[in-house]
Amino acid sequence: MELTANARIVLESRYLRRDEQGKLIETPEQMLERVALAVAEAELYWGQAKDVQQTASLFFDLMNEKLFLPNSPTLMNAGTPLSQLSACFVLPVEDDMSAIFDTLKLAALIQQSGGGTGFNFSHLRPEGSYVSSTGGTSSGPVAFMKIYNAATEEIKQGGKRRGANMGILNINHPDILTFINAKEDAHQLNNFNISVGIKNDFFKALDTGKTYTLHFSDVHGKTIEREVSAADLWQKLVHAAWATGDPGLIFLDTIQQFNPTPGIGTIEATNPCGEVPLLPYESCNLGSINLSKMLQKRENQDWQVDWEKLRRTIHLAVRFLDNVIEINRYLHPELKRMATGNRKIGLGVMGWAEMLIRMGIPYDSQEALQFGSQLMQFIQHEAQIASASLAAQRGSFPFIIQSQFSSQQRRNATLTSIAPTGTISLIAGTSSSIEPLFAIAYKREHVLNNQTLFEINPAALEILSRQQHFSEQMLDEIILKGSVQHIRQLPESVRRLLKTSLEIDYTYHIAHQVSFQRYTDNAVSKTINMPASATIADVENAYRMAWQQGAKGITIFRYGSKAEQVLHAGLKK
Ligand code: CDP
Repeated sequence: MELTANARIVLESRYLRRDEQGKLIETPEQMLERVALAVAEAELYWGQAKDVQQTASLFFDLMNEKLFLPNSPTLMNAGTPLSQLSACFVLPVEDDMSAIFDTLKLAALIQQSGGGTGFNFSHLRPEGSYVSSTGGTSSGPVAFMKIYNAATEEIKQGGKRRGANMGILNINHPDILTFINAKEDAHQLNNFNISVGIKNDFFKALDTGKTYTLHFSDVHGKTIEREVSAADLWQKLVHAAWATGDPGLIFLDTIQQFNPTPGIGTIEATNPCGEVPLLPYESCNLGSINLSKMLQKRENQDWQVDWEKLRRTIHLAVRFLDNVIEINRYLHPELKRMATGNRKIGLGVMGWAEMLIRMGIPYDSQEALQFGSQLMQFIQHEAQIASASLAAQRGSFPFIIQSQFSSQQRRNATLTSIAPTGTISLIAGTSSSIEPLFAIAYKREHVLNNQTLFEINPAALEILSRQQHFSEQMLDEIILKGSVQHIRQLPESVRRLLKTSLEIDYTYHIAHQVSFQRYTDNAVSKTINMPASATIADVENAYRMAWQQGAKGITIFRYGSKAEQVLHAGLKK
């Protein structure tokens, strides 16, 4: 497996198996063999035993050539006794002490195995409510989130990665103001991304200048209601997001509109990074196609998409991810029932920025947006064909009768999802997800317990090294600043092509999210980067744009607003 120095470090420290003394017992190639064989063996279940070796070799090549990689838990755990292979889970939080701690226990086990957990805390009664069994008062959703947070703090996902949580509270919950400000203190809820669950009626109240009703009904039908100013609530929310990056928003009505199995339940939450809205107890296996490998170049011509190679990769990736559901080990019977009932998978992409740079298309252009939609439409369409053809051999997903596909043959309730690809893009040596380059060169902290990694994007280096005035001194300057915008010897067209996340207007970040969302069954994880100078009005505008244009959620990140940043542009000497 061809690997960058950084990829090798990441694999050795977290992915490759070790014996009890901590000695490495596999190479990167052996890791891929382990994963490929375990995933291919799923086909034994459907009586396709003679295909196993052949399928394993197809899966091995797929990963070895870095055309596609599954999410981290699959790489770490496939073919091991643990065999928990999913990255994303949503668990229910019911208004009952024993249910709250049952879910916490399951969340702890999921995180220990490398999975991330999302919860909607809106079913919990507000702070100060009566507790009939004790005669006391309830401490409210945010207090229970702090307990979940403390548990995550002590679970280091098998010593491999930090646990991640998504905590959601609906906009009409009486404790919404406490929730909105819950991350003002940077140490509080540090293992949570938090998002407000927005319903369309809130925007209606906001736009007509009306009050908004906060509401809670307990299981006995006892109701608490309070009228608040919608404008005041909105201003507080946007201000908190501007100051700290939290809370983000989740658009519950949009999510429900695209819920493929409304007959099975209502979706109230997403996984930690937001790319998979899921029903309670559902999970999802992700995998991403490396777009930087989907290009071809004929002699004296520019780089073009190799559609045929992309098509083959999609079909094999769908088969891979469907197999993962079969060999997965589930930590709870309900997790198994939901995962095998809906068989959701999330095929996404990485290397989009690198693809655009090679093709000479600036990220902040209409051309990039249209091309993004076209590409994702192709991926979704081919994934549907692949899923239908698997259904013909293996049967449709069991809950299909209660789904919007009840008249079709289909193996999976969802097929596509754009994940952040934080680690797998590093292993593949390409830009992450559909993000622009964060910096032309950068250092990455905290990834591996205080080690610092340096990276220069290969596509950017390729373009730069073709420039007339390119020199080692110029490269040093680029590494120092992480940007090429200040280098006047470079033509305007090159500078535009190599704009980084913070140099791209936030409206283009949102437009990319929306362009890909149009053809994504699940959701798109996207960081809407803003410079430190962005105003509260910018944040408000971003949140509204995302809702109006059909995003399923939004998270902004204003540079410098979080104390602990994983990425820093350029090098700081
Ligand atoms: O690249 P990799 O497969 O490691 O993960 P990603 O695409 O960056 O993140 C995908 C999902 O994995 C996230 O949305 C979370 O659900 C989960 N995750 C987690 O639980 N803990 C982490 N430290 C990172 C990701």
